[in-house]
Amino acid sequence: MKLMTKSLFNHYKKFLPITLETPEVTLGEGFTPLVKSINLSTKYKCDIYFKLEGCNPSSSFKDRGMFMAVSKAIEKNKNKIICASTGNTSASAAAYGAKYNLETIVIIPSGKIALGKLLQAMAYGAKIISIKGNFDQALNAVRDISDSLNLEIVNSINPFRLEGQMTGAFEIVDELKSSPDFQFMPVGNAGNISSYFKGYNIYKSENKILDIPRLMGVQAEYSAPMVDNKIIKSPKTIASAIRIGNPASSELAKEAILKTNGQFLKVSDKEILDAQSILAKEEGIFCEPASAASLAGFLKYIDTNNDYINKKIVFILTGNGLKDPEVAQKNLKSEIINTSSKMEDITNAIISGKSSNFFKRFF
Ligand code: F0G
Repeated sequence: MKLMTKSLFNHYKKFLPITLETPEVTLGEGFTPLVKSINLSTKYKCDIYFKLEGCNPSSSFKDRGMFMAVSKAIEKNKNKIICASTGNTSASAAAYGAKYNLETIVIIPSGKIALGKLLQAMAYGAKIISIKGNFDQALNAVRDISDSLNLEIVNSINPFRLEGQMTGAFEIVDELKSSPDFQFMPVGNAGNISSYFKGYNIYKSENKILDIPRLMGVQAEYSAPMVDNKIIKSPKTIASAIRIGNPASSELAKEAILKTNGQFLKVSDKEILDAQSILAKEEGIFCEPASAASLAGFLKYIDTNNDYINKKIVFILTGNGLKDPEVAQKNLKSEIINTSSKMEDITNAIISGKSSNFFKRFF
């Protein structure tokens, strides 16, 4: 008996490059929650929705593209996949590689990827190669090496990744029954914004929506090649996922912005961290710093614009906050109140909000 579970592969087959020869690949990706905000919607007088891409199996949006890229790799009889990564692509590739018996090689910038993501790649059993260099150099290496070693590249330069990621746009429209007015999202290698643009366009040509949302791509201040319109040799930001100076899909992304009357915006690390904290403390959503850039971009935009009022706005929260415990630990500081295990001390701690004297002396 064949078990038919809901998968992006089956559900959106019609819009994806799937033929009779394409094997179904799934880890249960997609169909992520689109959560309506209460607090921020009220505060900013608009309808805000958060697309929780951290709810994917490897806890980031990369799984939407990875199922398709891996499916096509298997169709082509490849048995090894490779990617360069700031962390999430490597975690995703390694997960699919594990399930479908593909050797997974990941090239990462040494010391520059978040701990949770590195642990994922290790847990799934990838071959991890850490280079002295940044993401852009890692991606160049992948491009140079893959052909001679017969490795399938599963970065977003693989067109099937972008096809799979269109499903994010399909889900948003299927759920809202219309297109949002604005969509804010982080931009690193610029693949995801290009995918959403393509996805919305397909739904428009199918007459499922009248308009495409204004796509707002957010980058970090010192990693903002799309905003500054130049390659950044040594990109810097606390949001390691989008620490990219030479985005592979920059031309597609420019088109997405131009054709939707959108904008590229840049935000400081402090604005990113503040937005991460706001999402956690006011909406109960713990996303990683790169994802919080989308809210930071919105907060910057509304400083000088008011055309967002009463509009429907979607934020793509690309990855789970637990992936980057180091940044969270440093910046989401919340004092821990230490007490003995005595009922009296615990009660005092609750009421006073302070550690008991005993612990104050020792910690
Ligand atoms: N948000 C997160 C959490 C990411 O991991 C990435 C990219 C982006 C946003 C930007 O998406 O590259 O399509 O513009 N991470 C890649 C990686 C580069 O290797 O995991 P993009």
